[in-house]
Amino acid sequence: MRQAGRYMPEYRAMRERHGFLELCKNPQAAAEVTLQPVERLGVDAAILFADILLVLEPLGVGVEFTRGEGPHIERPVRSAADVARLAPAVARDAVPFVFETVSLARKALGERVPLIGFAGAPFTLASYLIEGGASREFLLTKRFMRVEREAWHAMLGRLAEITADYLNGQIAAGAQAVQLFDSWVGTLSPADYREFVLLHTRAVIERLTPDVPVIHFGVGTATLLSSMKEAGGDVMGLDWRVELGPTWERLGFDVAVQGNLDPAVLLSSTDEIRRAAKAILDGAARRPGHIFNLGHGVHQETPVENVKALVDIVHELSSR
Ligand code: CP3
Repeated sequence: MRQAGRYMPEYRAMRERHGFLELCKNPQAAAEVTLQPVERLGVDAAILFADILLVLEPLGVGVEFTRGEGPHIERPVRSAADVARLAPAVARDAVPFVFETVSLARKALGERVPLIGFAGAPFTLASYLIEGGASREFLLTKRFMRVEREAWHAMLGRLAEITADYLNGQIAAGAQAVQLFDSWVGTLSPADYREFVLLHTRAVIERLTPDVPVIHFGVGTATLLSSMKEAGGDVMGLDWRVELGPTWERLGFDVAVQGNLDPAVLLSSTDEIRRAAKAILDGAARRPGHIFNLGHGVHQETPVENVKALVDIVHELSSR
């Protein structure tokens, strides 16, 4: 899940003073935001405050975050020639501020909780590059995959290298686990996942510094999970559309799972939150290797007290 964000008053206060990109590029402020959910909610891990799209900026496509409308790519990739024109940037040189944030956040956290770094997976990054922003049907992306097969694979190959470097940079700076967000890959059929995505995601995971746990997550991935497991990851992130117990059994208990409360439950009451959290913990049946989490990020409209209540409820129920 995304845990920092606009549902938190202390985050909104930071955003009054800084634009979103400006905040990401200010390691002192970004490290402070990284710690906000730890202090406010008592969560068991901190998540780096950054964004999956920061690595696209050095490619020269023009990345913007417009208020209320989400991310926007000024010069989207629409042809093989556009792919060839992407600037030859390397994450190490291009996003030093992220690594500095990791290092500052890790120092500030001390021994309290571990720090999780993250990046976007090649498909999800490519979908932003091609669509130019959010999308419902991903039609431009799906057309590009088939019509420009060679350029597609060339671009995802580059994104895989960039992503692996980006994550390894975070690990070198102090991230103790990393999460790979293939947020929008659930739009694909299983056959298309295997033909157009799997090898590139696997290439990212294979290039990562050994012995650092990797969480592999997407939304709407019920039919893709076994292929995503093949691509790699120590932990599979589940959204709320699947039942945790049977899905874990189907995936195999050799992989850990993370999830999977519907974030919308946090808009209800403490009793409802307790009931829904308990159902998930019951599904996991106290097997080792379940990380309780939301099935996706916290909605902006969520009362922060409800998120805090969830953290307390999960701690209480799982310590019994
Ligand atoms: O503590 C945390 O978890 C925050 C760190 C974080 C952010 N983005 C900060 C952010 C993380 C883990 C992300 C990942 C991210 N970014 C993903 C993958 C995770 C997911 O939710 O599926 C994706 C798809 C993005 C791209 C992105 N960035 C979108 C779609 C948006 C707009 C969302 C919105 O709520 O408006 C962003 C902007 C963004 N990234 C915000 C935050 C806190 C909100 C920006 C703001 O303050 O105005």
